[in-house]
Amino acid sequence: MIESAIATSTVVLPPPGALKETDIDPGLDLVAEIGRLRRERNAIILAHYYQDGEIQDLADFVGDSLDLSRKAAATDADVIVFCGVRFMGEVAKILSPSKTVLIPDADAGCSLEESCRADTFARFRERHPDHVAITYINCSAEVKALSDIIVTSSNAEAIVRQIPADRPILFAPDRHLGAYVARRTGRDLTLWPGACIVHEQFSEKELAKLKLRHPDARIAAHPECPDPILAQADCVGSTRALLDYVTNSDAREFIIATEPHIIHQMERAAPGKLFLPAPGADGGCNCADCPFMALNTMEKVYLALVNDAPRVEIAEELRIKALKPLERMLEMSASVPMSTSAPGGSSPHAA
Ligand code: 13P
Ligand code: SF4
Repeated sequence: MIESAIATSTVVLPPPGALKETDIDPGLDLVAEIGRLRRERNAIILAHYYQDGEIQDLADFVGDSLDLSRKAAATDADVIVFCGVRFMGEVAKILSPSKTVLIPDADAGCSLEESCRADTFARFRERHPDHVAITYINCSAEVKALSDIIVTSSNAEAIVRQIPADRPILFAPDRHLGAYVARRTGRDLTLWPGACIVHEQFSEKELAKLKLRHPDARIAAHPECPDPILAQADCVGSTRALLDYVTNSDAREFIIATEPHIIHQMERAAPGKLFLPAPGADGGCNCADCPFMALNTMEKVYLALVNDAPRVEIAEELRIKALKPLERMLEMSASVPMSTSAPGGSSPHAA
């Protein structure tokens, strides 16, 4: 019997009367003010590659989900401002419970997390009692607490390869990443039917048409994309793996099949190369912006530091349960190197 986790992960909102966006003086130098508050509060700003370029430039560290988790676990800052989506802030709090974890917008969710409710996931596990539950980090703390091992896109394949061949595996919640890992490892994974709304909208036909117009371009795709997109790709990997690929490749042109804000970092790392966002069904290219990541703004980063909220809080019982599969992930990913690049702004906590 799989015990149901208690839903006690909360985001504490700013109190009534706290500073609001409309109170901010339009002439305020937000970069300078955030820098001042960061120093005063001994805070570190972590940002995912899908954040707006100005937030990436301000951050102490920019990374993929695995590197950001490692950074959150290792930092000596008192406060972590996590510019990403809510589950990333939860991971930081689970790994660093004594730190204050702030997120710029409490509503920054994730379609994968939404697709996988803890009560339904508990029943899914009950139907497969002999299976190891390997769960993508894009899920709630409650679902993590019901899982055996957490993975990210950069270590999923390496971790699945470490599971004994006779142990059946459940993989949730991203069916595309799960199917990709199943193909790579030859393992028969039982998949949860979730998907990322951003990566699902790339068009196989429009991508092939763009490649015809740019025959020398290499296609770099995230494994959250469906197979017809991955089948056209020269490189499939986590956001950081895609960044490393375009930086180190001899090619000069790339089509990027993931959330397009990562192109900001690619242009910094590989100036002079051309990066084309993969097209959606209408051939347009800005339809792949993640609406959740886009909720974070410079103003909200500033307000989070001023108001000490939105702040992630997790009940200790739930945190301990969710920590176990996250620790297994960190142990089992020892072979996956930490990013050698340390993008981000000037920092008192440089990588
Ligand atoms: P990675 O940065 O780990 O590749 O994850 C992508 C993603 O969708 C985060 O929400
Ligand atoms: Fe979730 Fe997709 Fe946005 Fe990542 S890009 S946060 S998986 S909705």
